[in-house]
Amino acid sequence: MQSFTESSIGLNLGPSGRAIAQPMDVDILEALYQHTSLERVSSAQYLAMSLWLLERELRGFSAFFKKESLAELEHGFNFAKYLIARGQSVVLEEVTKPIQDWKTVDELVALSFQMEADVTTSVQQLYSMAERANDTRTTVFLDPVIDEQIKSEDEMAYLLGKVRFANNDPSALFIIDNELNNI
Ligand SMILES: [Fe+2]
Repeated sequence: MQSFTESSIGLNLGPSGRAIAQPMDVDILEALYQHTSLERVSSAQYLAMSLWLLERELRGFSAFFKKESLAELEHGFNFAKYLIARGQSVVLEEVTKPIQDWKTVDELVALSFQMEADVTTSVQQLYSMAERANDTRTTVFLDPVIDEQIKSEDEMAYLLGKVRFANNDPSALFIIDNELNNI
């Protein structure tokens, strides 16, 4: 019976020294790094929003965006974890300074919606690249990410719709704030 040793089977090792079943396409790898950064930038941006809202006594909105910030941090971690599973070393890039200045809650939520849409675009581009490179591991990894992303967009569009409807009226905003405090 043939025995399989490391040299006889030509084991592939990733940059981290971990055994890898399939080497990664350099462009996909770069795109995954960029996406990891995007999630971390989103997390910092949501944290800034949470604090801006807290300063304005909107505790429900603030709690909602704090939760979003933690979710984005988790997403970034999830991408880094996937890279490690694929034998890569994760180099973290600088997180850009978040925007901290808005005129209205409407403006802040509109930016949040745009951020979610940008993240979805980035994931879709990654998915197409992985498909072209026959990297099934990456497409399978991205499937639930896309699913969750679509839900996030829907949630943010709903909040934006409600805030627009409130039309910067403080009493209407406090009603929404109360609702957000209870989710
Ligand atoms: Fe995310």
